[in-house]
Amino acid sequence: MEIKIALVGCGNVGTAFIELLAEKRNELKNKFGFFFSLVMVSDKIKGTICNKNGFDIDELVLALHEEHNLSHFEQAKGNFQEVLLASGANFLAECTPTDFETGEPGMSHIKFALDNGISVSTTNKGPIALAIDDLKQIADGHGAKIFCEGTVLSGTPLLDLLKNGLAGCEILEVQGILNGTTNFILSQMEQGQTYEAALKKAQLLGFAEANPRQDVEAFDPAGKVLVLAKLIYGINVDFNSIKRIGITHVTKEMIEIAAKNNHRIKLIAGIHRDINGLHLYVMPRELENTHPLASVNGATNAITLTTDNLGDITLIGPGAGRRETGQALLHDLIEFARTK
Ligand code: HSE
Repeated sequence: MEIKIALVGCGNVGTAFIELLAEKRNELKNKFGFFFSLVMVSDKIKGTICNKNGFDIDELVLALHEEHNLSHFEQAKGNFQEVLLASGANFLAECTPTDFETGEPGMSHIKFALDNGISVSTTNKGPIALAIDDLKQIADGHGAKIFCEGTVLSGTPLLDLLKNGLAGCEILEVQGILNGTTNFILSQMEQGQTYEAALKKAQLLGFAEANPRQDVEAFDPAGKVLVLAKLIYGINVDFNSIKRIGITHVTKEMIEIAAKNNHRIKLIAGIHRDINGLHLYVMPRELENTHPLASVNGATNAITLTTDNLGDITLIGPGAGRRETGQALLHDLIEFARTK
């Protein structure tokens, strides 16, 4: 079987996905039984290239490393939609930046692909948070599939765990650290760094969103909680109804006082259930050092799922990063090949 892959959004994550494809091609063939070709790469800044027979992936990796652009290749003619159809792709990896208000540009890319029977894996949280039901419906109507493992906890397989590993369990409560950037900043501030320096470092390391307000004002973890509410409970929640407080008001002094009391300040995102229904929130909380989420450092994420059959399950792993999120796309590609 051959999968023809198109990629839109060739920044940190998209480039890491291409590197992973190059690195794992033999494993994909020998262990998972499929060949792939990369037939299109499109990026707002780097332009759009297309080769129906598949690019030489090593040449592509080299060009991206050495030139940080796609000028080595002839630019394709036509807009994204025209080139995508001409490429013959049957799988689109969508890695454009998140916009929780409109979901664009990812929303249009994903809808167009699904409408044309092209399956999609996205790491873009906007379209999934805003319209996962619609997108699934379009996919179903056109014999395509939509995957989104990378939207929560990057490549740490939380969505897979919810779908497969915890099948049959009822989730009673969700509590987690769902944003790598803010956890990184809080950890750095504990070590004496300023908020500004820590944010800059998170941007350099590729954890932060293109607009870091999404992280520090907690739009990003709020979007992730919304995705979880949909996937776990099947409910649609209005983004604006989520109780959302970021870390911009957390000071060095607050962190020091917490430490004196054997506490740590963490940005906690969760879903609480009571007789009035489900309550989604993101807010800084002071946790005792013995709390399972208190020891999670840097860009690492963690989530505790309280279940009826297994009690508490805590999953800890990377929540951001180029290769870590590229892994989520690779996971989805393998899942697509398995179910095709
Ligand atoms: N900016 C996000 C974070 C990236 O820091 O968690 C991963 O979703």
